[in-house]
Amino acid sequence: MSFSDLKPLIRLLADGQFHSGEALGAQLGITRAAVWKRLQSLAQLDLPIESQRARGYRITGGLQLLDEERILAGLSTEAGALVHRLYCFDEIDSTNRFLLQQGEAGDICVAERQTAGRGRRGRQWFSPYGCNLYMSIRWHFHQGVAALEGLSLAVGVLLAEALQALGLTAVELKWPNDLLCAGCKLGGVLIEVGGDLNGDCAVVVGVGLNVDMEHTLARLGQDIIGQPWTDLRQQGFSGDRNELCSAVMQALLPAVRDYPAYGFSLYRNAWESRAALLHQSIEVHAQGGVINGVMLGVDSKGSLRVRTDAGETLFSGGEISLRSGR
Ligand code: BTN
Repeated sequence: MSFSDLKPLIRLLADGQFHSGEALGAQLGITRAAVWKRLQSLAQLDLPIESQRARGYRITGGLQLLDEERILAGLSTEAGALVHRLYCFDEIDSTNRFLLQQGEAGDICVAERQTAGRGRRGRQWFSPYGCNLYMSIRWHFHQGVAALEGLSLAVGVLLAEALQALGLTAVELKWPNDLLCAGCKLGGVLIEVGGDLNGDCAVVVGVGLNVDMEHTLARLGQDIIGQPWTDLRQQGFSGDRNELCSAVMQALLPAVRDYPAYGFSLYRNAWESRAALLHQSIEVHAQGGVINGVMLGVDSKGSLRVRTDAGETLFSGGEISLRSGR
C-alpha cells in the first residue's frame, strides 16, 4: 500500500491516543475494513501499533512527524540561504544514496524511514519509521577529497555541540565518527564522495541519530541493533524531531561549506576534549588483524594516534574500527 494511502491514517494516530476503527473510518472517509487493511500495513512498517478491543488503535508513544515547513522555519537566515532544496520522504532506500546520485550543493534529504540505510564498513543502518533522524547534506568542492580529510570527525564535533545546545552534555566521540553516551551508540556519520576525487567532487554527509526507539524496539526486540545503543529521549531530550533537524542543518551547512578553508585543525582540540577511550588501552581492528595500544588522540588530519610496541602509529581509513582494550 502506498504512503499516499497510509499517511492520513498515520497523521491521525500520531497523537498516540486510542482511536476506534469506526472513528478512523469516518474521518478518513473509508470503511472499517479499509482502515484495518491500512493498520496491517503500518504494522509491517514496524510501527508500534497497539489495539484494544474497547478503545481501538493507537501508535504507542505517538509520533512527531517530519514537517518540511517547520524544519526550514527553524533555520537562521544565514543557514536558510544555504539550503538549495529540502527533500522530505516517508520512505527511501538511503538518503545518502539519493543525494549521491543527483543534486546540487545545499540539497538536504531527510526521511521517516530508510529501507537500505547505509552504515560504515558496509553495514546496514537500522532505520525504522518516524523515530530517528536520517539526514544527508550534499555539497560541492573543487579541491578534491584531500581538502576534506577529517571532515567526518569534524561533523561529529559539530553534532555534539549542536546536541549540547539542546541540553545533552554527555555526548562523546569515538574514532572515527561514532556518537556515544555512556558507552552506548547514539548516532553515526557516513560521508560518501562522488565525481572527480582529485578535482570537482560532490560530498554527501550522512547523519543518523537515534531519537526515540523505545516503543519500536519493544516491538522488534532489543537485539536488532547488534550493539549497546541509546537514544536522545533516554538522554533527556524532550524537544521535537523537526527542531533537531533544524539544529543539525544549522550546525552543519556553513561548517561543511567552509571546511576546505580551515580543515580539521579547527576541530582537533574540540574532538579530543570529547574523545571516548582517550589515554586508554584500545584494540585497533584493521584488515591485517588486531593491534593493541594506548589511544593518544588524533593528528591535524584526523588520523588516530596510537602508542604501540612499535612506537606511535597513525591509523586512517574506512575499514578500521576501535574497541576498548585490556
Ligand atoms: C555509522 O555506521 O555509524 C554511520 C551511520 C550513518 C547513517 C546515516 S542515516 C542517514 C544517511 N543515509 C544513510 O544511508 N546513511 C546515513
